[in-house]
Amino acid sequence: MDFNLTEEQELIKQNTREFAVENLEPIAAELDRTGRYPAETIEKLAELDFMGMPYPEEYGGVGADFLSYILVVEELSRSCASTGIIYAAHCSLACWPIYKWGSEELKQKYLVPMCKGEKLGAFALTEPGAGTDAAAVRCTATLEGDEYILNGTKCFITNGGVADVYIIIALTNPAVGVRGLSAFVVDANLPGFEIGKHEEKMGIRGSQTTELIFKNCRIPQANIIGKPGRGFGIAMGTFDGGRIGVAAQAVGIAQAALDEAVKFAKERVQFGSPIASKQAIQWMLADMATQIQAARLLTYHAATLKGEDKPFTKEASMAKLFAAEAADFVCNKAIQIHGGYGFIKDFKVERLYRDAKICSLYEGTSEVQRMIISGSVLR
Ligand code: CAA
Repeated sequence: MDFNLTEEQELIKQNTREFAVENLEPIAAELDRTGRYPAETIEKLAELDFMGMPYPEEYGGVGADFLSYILVVEELSRSCASTGIIYAAHCSLACWPIYKWGSEELKQKYLVPMCKGEKLGAFALTEPGAGTDAAAVRCTATLEGDEYILNGTKCFITNGGVADVYIIIALTNPAVGVRGLSAFVVDANLPGFEIGKHEEKMGIRGSQTTELIFKNCRIPQANIIGKPGRGFGIAMGTFDGGRIGVAAQAVGIAQAALDEAVKFAKERVQFGSPIASKQAIQWMLADMATQIQAARLLTYHAATLKGEDKPFTKEASMAKLFAAEAADFVCNKAIQIHGGYGFIKDFKVERLYRDAKICSLYEGTSEVQRMIISGSVLR
């Protein structure tokens, strides 16, 4: 196995870092404070051809490999975890199902403008009663003539209210349970489609999270992704890739926390010398760096497998599980190194600690990742 990034991957990582330092670092704290959606940053990412990074040029992408895309998520998240997930939810959760399972008509109509950054995407499976139990969806899509009629409520939807295109998982045949779920592409401006409650979150506050409400919302029959009844498999296959993105987000947040902790430890003088000279601090930094490196390797390995079209479900869950818990650990230690200063909002680690928490919750909790990994180990 080659552990080195290619020259092109190094360049993408470096360019993203420069972009993030220039465009995200100056606004990240303000986004956190106000909960503002960074429309101007997403526009810049579109201008630089980032929004369709891992998709072929014929669909408006740049044809980069999946690991390159993951490097972008890591470096964006290192400066602003909100921007990291706005980008990843669009690129991976919304674009992927259309690219992988959608008709050519859907690709031309939706994927091309999404990859060009002209339209932003979101993905909606979660409902008040369907969180970890993803098969418990109650939202219905009833075929009438050549249209499906959507009814129901989705919740906790990333990019809700700012996306132009939504992937919706709904029941087309309630009688057969999970095999009766289907996936649809839905335009934001359709009659009968409303944005409900905007959530006030603990972290990633620049990323918008809302309810979606469908009341007799009519969508063309042609907007179904794949065949009726394939929705659960499409959702699970999409989450497999999305989880590598969350792992990369966690690695980026953890790296930022380590960067801050190292800087602080070198500057902060107690008992006559910088605290970096104390073994207690050195050992914390060593553990933090080791956790990050392990998380990064798991993440890059899962991304490489996906990029090579090899099975990667278990590896994606391992990467997300480990990286999310590593981010939690690293951010906690970064605050500890800062002492009381780490508890004050003027210091970046306070935000990083709150941002890190979501990584072990969305796209499947750590418990879900353990279910998937143990299922694979016991098979
Ligand atoms: N790929 C393709 N198909 C898959 C699959 C995969 N990775 N995993 C399961 N399936 C198929 C199975 O083969 C099975 O098909 P058959 O019935 O034909 O055999 C079917 O799906 C049902 O599988 P399970 O019995 O394993 O399903 P389950 O109901 O026990 O659920 C679970 C398993 C892993 C817990 C799943 O419910 C799950 O992933 N839950 C977490 C949901 C989640 O991640 N939500 C995230 C919301 S989106 C989000 O967070 C995004 C954001 O904000 C950014």
